[in-house]
Amino acid sequence: MATVDRLDIPLARESVEPIYKQLARHLRLQIESGRLLPGDRLPPTRDLARELGVGRVSVVNAYAELQEEGRIAAHPGRGTFVTRTRLAASGMPPAWSLPGAATFSMREMARLARQPGVIAFSGGTPSEEFLPVEALRHAINAVLDRDGASAVDYEETEGYPPLRAHVAEYVASLGIRCHPDDVLITGGAQQALDLVVQALLGEGDTLVTANPTYLGILDIAHVRRVIPVGVAMDRDGMRLDQLEAVIQAHRPRLIYAAPTYHNPTGAVMPIHRRRQLLALARHYDIPILEDAVYHELGYQGAAPPPLKALDDDRLVLHASGFSKILLPGTRTGYLIASGALRDRLVRVKQAADICTPGLNQRAMHVFLASGALPGHLNRVRGALRLRCQAAVEAAERYLPPGARWTPPSGGLYLWVALPDEGPTAAELYITAIQHGVSYAIGTLFHTDGGGDRYLRLNFSSQPSARIVEGMKRLGAAWEAWCTAYGTSRLTPAARRETIL
Ligand SMILES: Cc1ncc(COP(=O)(O)O)c(C=O)c1O
Repeated sequence: MATVDRLDIPLARESVEPIYKQLARHLRLQIESGRLLPGDRLPPTRDLARELGVGRVSVVNAYAELQEEGRIAAHPGRGTFVTRTRLAASGMPPAWSLPGAATFSMREMARLARQPGVIAFSGGTPSEEFLPVEALRHAINAVLDRDGASAVDYEETEGYPPLRAHVAEYVASLGIRCHPDDVLITGGAQQALDLVVQALLGEGDTLVTANPTYLGILDIAHVRRVIPVGVAMDRDGMRLDQLEAVIQAHRPRLIYAAPTYHNPTGAVMPIHRRRQLLALARHYDIPILEDAVYHELGYQGAAPPPLKALDDDRLVLHASGFSKILLPGTRTGYLIASGALRDRLVRVKQAADICTPGLNQRAMHVFLASGALPGHLNRVRGALRLRCQAAVEAAERYLPPGARWTPPSGGLYLWVALPDEGPTAAELYITAIQHGVSYAIGTLFHTDGGGDRYLRLNFSSQPSARIVEGMKRLGAAWEAWCTAYGTSRLTPAARRETIL
C-alpha cells in the first residue's frame, strides 16, 4: 500500500468538460491502467486541490463520483483509498456503465439536485402536497384500533385479502376482469416488475422494451443479468414493425410495455396499436408485462383501456400500484396474474420479502374503502393539468430555439429534445445545477446509450410559479453554456416541432 503524493493530472481548463469530470476521468484511467493500485491512498482533497490549482469542491465531486462507482472508498480519519475489489472481476456493472448512464448515475444526479435552492425537475414522484397525509394518519389509527397486533404481524404473502378484493374491484372499473385470487400485493409496482422478470427470465435471456424506457426496468434487467433490447418509439409508443424484427432476431422471453403516459416520453399507445401488440405477442407466444402506474393520471380525457382489459389470451401481466396516485412510501403495488404463473410469483415474492407490510396494506384498504380515491384523483389531475400547461408555456418562452417537445396528455413529465447544436443534457447538467435547476438526463432511459440530447422534466413536483422559474433558469443555463463555449445557435423555426 502506498500513499500517492503526486498525481499526474493534466487538466484542460478551456474544455467543455467540467474540471471535476476531467479529474474523475484521469483518476479512473489511472486505476484501470494499474498506475494506482488497490489500497493506494489518494491525497486529501484539500492538498490535491491546492496542487492542481482547482477548487476543493471539484476534487470532492470527483472523489464522490469514483466512490459511487466503487473504485475508491473513504475511511473516516484514515483517508481515501483505491478499493481492493476490482469491479470488472465482480461481474457487476458499475453505476456509470449502466445503459445510457454515460456520465451521471441517477443517484449522483439526485445528490446534486438536493442542494438547497435547486428547483428539482429530476425526480419521479408527484408533489408532496398531493400526498393525503391526514387521511393516512386516520387510516393507520383506525387499523391499529381495529386490528391491534395482527396489523403488525406477518401478512399473507399474496397480500391482505380485503385489499386484494378491493383491487380486483378497482381494476374492474378500468375494464380488467379478474378474481381477487389473481391479485398479488407487491412492494410497489417496482417489485411487481422484478418478480415477473425473476419468475420468467433467466440469466442471459432477452427482455424487450421501448427505447427510451423506464429506468427501473433497466435496473432490474442489470441486477437480474437479463439483456434489455430496445425498440424505437414514435408518438404512439413502441413501433410494432421494429418490435417484430426484434422478436425474430432475439427471441425474447418477455415484452415490457408501458402503453399509457409512458415514462419518460408521455406517449399513449392508441387502442388499435394495443390490439396489434397483443396479436403480435399471441402470434409469437410471448408474455407482456404491462406497467400501468400512470394510467389514472390523464388530464385530457380518459386513456384507452389497459392492455390487460383487451387480453383474451392471458398473455398480459398487469403491474400497477398506488405510488403515483397516492403514497409512494407505503410501497403498495399489485400484480395481476393467474394460474401456475401466479403461484410461481407468490413463491418468488415469499423468497424476496415474505410479505408487503400489513399495516400499510390495511391502511391503504381503509383509505380506498372510504371512497376517497376518486375525489383525490380528480384534485391531482386538475393540479397536473395546470402544471403541465405552465410547463409547456414556460418551455415555449424560455427554452432555447430548436428545443422540441410534445405536450403530454397525462403523467408527470415533459420530455424535451435539446437543439442539435449546443450542449448535450449531460454537458449542461452542472451549469443547470449552478443556475439552480435539475432534470433527468435522457441517456439514463435508453437501452443503447442514446438520448444524449434529451432531458426529462418532472413538472408535477412544483407549483406553477416554480415551474416557470425553473424553466427560466434552464434557459439561462443553456445561454450561459453557449456563451462560455461559443456554440452556434439555431433559428426559432424548428421550435415546438413534436418529437419521437
Ligand atoms: C413507469 C414506472 N413503473 C414503475 C415505477 C415504480 O413504481 P412504485 O413506486 O409503485 O414501485 C415507476 C416509478 O417511477 C415508474 O415510473
